[in-house]
Amino acid sequence: MAASFATLHVLFLVWFLPATFSLSFFFFKAESISNVSCYEKDKQALLTLKRGLTDHGHVLSSWSDHKDCCIWDGVFYDKKIGRVTELHLNYSRLGGEISGSLLQLEHLNYLDLSGNDFNCTPIPTFLGSMFSLTHLDLLWANFSGLIPHQLGNLSSLRYLSLGDNSDLYVDNLHWMSGLSAIQYLDLSSADLHREVDCLQIMSKFPSLSELFLQNCQLDSLNPSLGFFNFTSLRVLSLSGNQCNHKIPNWFSNLSTSLLRLDLYSSSLKGNILPSIFNLEKLEFLSLYFNKLTEQILEPLGQLKHRTYLDLGYNSLNGPIPSSFGNLSHIRTLYLDQNQLNGTIPKSLGLLSKLESLYVGKNSLTRTVDEGHFRKLSKLKDLYMSETRLFFNVNSNWVPPFQLYSASMSSIKIGPNFPSWLQSQRSLHIFEMSMSGISGNAPGWFWNWISNVTFINLSNNHIKCDVSAIFLSSTVKVLNIANNSFYGPISTFLCQKKIRKNKLEILDASNNLLSGELSHCWNYWQSLIHLNLGSNNLVGRIPYSMGALVDLQSLRLQNNSIYGDIPSSLKKCSNLRLIDMGDNHLSIIPLWIGEMTNLLVLSLRSSEFNGYIPQQICQLSSLRVLDLANNNLLGSIPNCLKNFSAMALPNSNIDAFFSTDWDFYASYVENLKLAPKGKEMEYKENLKLVRLIDLSSNNLSGSIPAEISDLSELRFLNLSQNHLSSEIPPSMSNLTFLSLLDLSYDNFSGRIPSSTQLQSFDALRYIGNPQLCGDPLPKSCTIEEQSLNRSPIGSVEDDSKNSSFYIGMGVGFTTGFWAICGALFFNRTWRHACFRFAGELKDWIYVTTMIKMNLLEKLRVCLNK
Ligand SMILES: *[C@@H]1O[C@H](CO)[C@@H](O)[C@H](O)[C@H]1NC(C)=O
Ligand SMILES: *[C@@H]1O[C@H](CO)[C@@H](O)[C@H](O)[C@H]1NC(C)=O
Ligand SMILES: *[C@@H]1O[C@H](CO)[C@@H](O)[C@H](O)[C@H]1NC(C)=O
Ligand SMILES: *[C@@H]1O[C@H](CO)[C@@H](O)[C@H](O)[C@H]1NC(C)=O
Ligand SMILES: *[C@@H]1O[C@H](CO)[C@@H](O)[C@H](O)[C@H]1NC(C)=O
Ligand SMILES: *[C@@H]1O[C@H](CO)[C@@H](O)[C@H](O)[C@H]1NC(C)=O
Ligand SMILES: *[C@@H]1O[C@H](CO)[C@@H](O)[C@H](O)[C@H]1NC(C)=O
Ligand SMILES: *[C@@H]1O[C@H](CO)[C@@H](O)[C@H](O)[C@H]1NC(C)=O
Ligand SMILES: *[C@@H]1O[C@H](CO)[C@@H](O)[C@H](O)[C@H]1NC(C)=O
Ligand SMILES: *[C@@H]1O[C@H](CO)[C@@H](O)[C@H](O)[C@H]1NC(C)=O
Ligand SMILES: *[C@@H]1O[C@H](CO)[C@@H](O)[C@H](O)[C@H]1NC(C)=O
Repeated sequence: MAASFATLHVLFLVWFLPATFSLSFFFFKAESISNVSCYEKDKQALLTLKRGLTDHGHVLSSWSDHKDCCIWDGVFYDKKIGRVTELHLNYSRLGGEISGSLLQLEHLNYLDLSGNDFNCTPIPTFLGSMFSLTHLDLLWANFSGLIPHQLGNLSSLRYLSLGDNSDLYVDNLHWMSGLSAIQYLDLSSADLHREVDCLQIMSKFPSLSELFLQNCQLDSLNPSLGFFNFTSLRVLSLSGNQCNHKIPNWFSNLSTSLLRLDLYSSSLKGNILPSIFNLEKLEFLSLYFNKLTEQILEPLGQLKHRTYLDLGYNSLNGPIPSSFGNLSHIRTLYLDQNQLNGTIPKSLGLLSKLESLYVGKNSLTRTVDEGHFRKLSKLKDLYMSETRLFFNVNSNWVPPFQLYSASMSSIKIGPNFPSWLQSQRSLHIFEMSMSGISGNAPGWFWNWISNVTFINLSNNHIKCDVSAIFLSSTVKVLNIANNSFYGPISTFLCQKKIRKNKLEILDASNNLLSGELSHCWNYWQSLIHLNLGSNNLVGRIPYSMGALVDLQSLRLQNNSIYGDIPSSLKKCSNLRLIDMGDNHLSIIPLWIGEMTNLLVLSLRSSEFNGYIPQQICQLSSLRVLDLANNNLLGSIPNCLKNFSAMALPNSNIDAFFSTDWDFYASYVENLKLAPKGKEMEYKENLKLVRLIDLSSNNLSGSIPAEISDLSELRFLNLSQNHLSSEIPPSMSNLTFLSLLDLSYDNFSGRIPSSTQLQSFDALRYIGNPQLCGDPLPKSCTIEEQSLNRSPIGSVEDDSKNSSFYIGMGVGFTTGFWAICGALFFNRTWRHACFRFAGELKDWIYVTTMIKMNLLEKLRVCLNK
């Protein structure tokens, strides 16, 4: 009677509540109305479970003895049998010990503990005795150690996820054959390499439909003997295994079932095998970031069900097959970062469902015109940067699409401003740097662009009065560097219509801007990165710049700014990079020591005089200190050992150096340094530099011996000062130094011997008449005089070697790794994505998201 009363209520609620309410909501409500009570044994078992767990999120606060356990949060109850059947304790910040009392819940079929933190403890073996379980989810729960064989006893289990835990491993997988009902199996990130027959064993499950084995340290995807007989596999992910062989051809045996195949980042070699072409039902194929070579064959275009194809980041060559025009369902086509050549086939213009087209970073040539976009009415993301394409459309062309992002840097577009842009009303990312655009912008342009979020027009020949630029509150990034914008900067900074701007990145370096820095900085408080370097700016740094409290980098280098650095800049306490080199400034302020977030301080060639303040040593995060070519007096502060970022490896703040806006849209800090006397521009590699350059000043005294504590230092240049006395023997401990320059000082005595100090060219020690010993030709004792010496100025030209830029022999990281390394190999991010994927059950969306909107969306999903 009571049960049917409850059922009635459920129906009643379902009838009247809006459809958006969740089902679990009815569950709880319905139960609390009825008076069905909890089976006492189940209640006691759950209370024991609660006592063992740590509950930082207080999600178990409803689990109290006075309340019926059917209304406890996360507990699901079957009224018919009067027993607890499901526990949904996912993402609840639980930890501690999982009590064996769970075994009392004889009817439990659904146990979800994913997203909690069990502190690297092993998976409890008693779970293998919960024979009623059909669903066991331990995804991302920080379990470690051997996956217990007992789990193989769960013959009713349909869903098992042990993915993305810390250091799970198996010794073998033969116990797994007991999982005869399994349909969904996720062992990603578990170390399976000890089981050579891993895939063989899994291919025996008759009902297996989804299999996730990414990052499992499998070194081969080929059967050790015979073949695999996966009969009903729909989804297969083998990404992130280092295979170093060709794409296996057994996939062709999955031709009637497989819908999704994920093989990205698996070190697969050779060509794209025809076996893939037989997968006639396949909708989703990702071969992103492998070592695939040779041409893409025409038959790949015959897979008409294909909605997602990612062949990006390989070494594919030859043309894009024109048969791709047959991929009539395709929504996402990534072919970027390969060696594809020839032209873009016009047939791509037929793909009426296409939303993302990535062909950038290839050797594609010739013209792209209206025909290439004929039916692309759904196109949102177009990436064709860094090709040799010529985007040549008629000035009255109205494209069929409304783009979200147009990444068209380093292709030929100009000299005219493309007028089709006017029709684009939803553009957020707009990149047309280095595209040959020149002259003055047409009247509509600045108004139109004020609706865009990310604007990169750098490296063109735009000649424009800076006061014409209009920025609404939409614009977050404006890069107009390396153009010919002219006029007093105050007309831009102070104009009324710009006062509501929310700009975060402004790079107007290398233009013809003139005048004083103005007093309008109050309107620019959203700025995070500001670069006004290499213009014709004059006057003092205004006090009002202290309003930029969020500023992280301030670059005013190579102008004609003079006077003091105003103390108001102290308020910009988030500053991490200051570059004021090549100006006419005066003294290094004592308060500089309060800017404790500083990573880079460059004040070179700027007429600084006076002393280097002791306070500078408070900058414990500093990695680059460049005070070269000034008139600094006195001695080197003897507190350098406080620069702990130069003493300890891997301080993890590299994100500052490159701000990712989107998969391809990022802002990378750059800086000119001259560690070897010649100025070089540092970009992606700046984050790896550790440098102290005090050369060409009037410094005197000796080198503080404690400098040897800065064991991560790569460049140390103290040349052309009046430093004297002996070189401290402890300097031989600076084993990471790739450059030491002590020339033209007054050093004396013997150069301490170590493999390091002797490896530098003698030129780095000359001009010190009283200095002797290897590598100088002048020996310290008479006996050594007779030994042969190599002549001064021997080969030291490593300027073509990338290691030169960062001062280390290995580890040259490209921009790609800065983004993707984090994405694929940082547990949290990768997890966040896949977790998101699991929840949405829409891989297409998710994988697109990974590429297109990396940061924004990941931030959301990480904060969950
Ligand atoms: C609970 O159900 C019993 C019958 O099983 C009934 O006698 C009792 O009145 C109900 N109590 C409430 C509060 O509805
Ligand atoms: C926990 O799992 C349920 C059911 O699978 C799901 O609806 C809910 O969103 C998950 N909660 C979190 C925080 O992931
Ligand atoms: C996993 O647990 C270990 C040990 O307590 C802890 O150091 C680590 O931070 C945890 N990892 C995650 C991802 O929570
Ligand atoms: C469960 O599996 C283990 C190891 O695979 C086995 O030794 C044990 O007998 C099984 N237990 C039960 C209750 O079936
Ligand atoms: C493959 O598996 C199916 C179902 O388990 C079975 O019927 C079939 O005989 C197997 N094929 C081979 C060649 O073993
Ligand atoms: C496909 O399966 C058949 C048996 O059904 C087997 O003979 C053949 O070798 C398999 N092919 C591959 C490439 O594994
Ligand atoms: C589509 O496929 C058919 C048959 O393979 C082929 O004849 C045709 O040329 C293809 N269409 C395009 C646009 O490539
Ligand atoms: C494209 O590249 C292939 C191989 O690298 C080469 O043989 C071919 O001539 C190139 N074609 C064009 C049009 O450049
Ligand atoms: C900018 O966006 C707003 C709101 O979306 C719209 O009303 C306006 O017409 C757009 N302006 C331009 C120049 O595209
Ligand atoms: C703009 O394009 C240039 C290359 O032309 C690139 O160096 C820069 O990182 C891009 N993005 C931004 C935000 O400046
Ligand atoms: C080099 O460093 C080691 C360990 O830090 C220290 O024991 C040794 O004295 C140092 N050598 C010199 C010459 O200072």
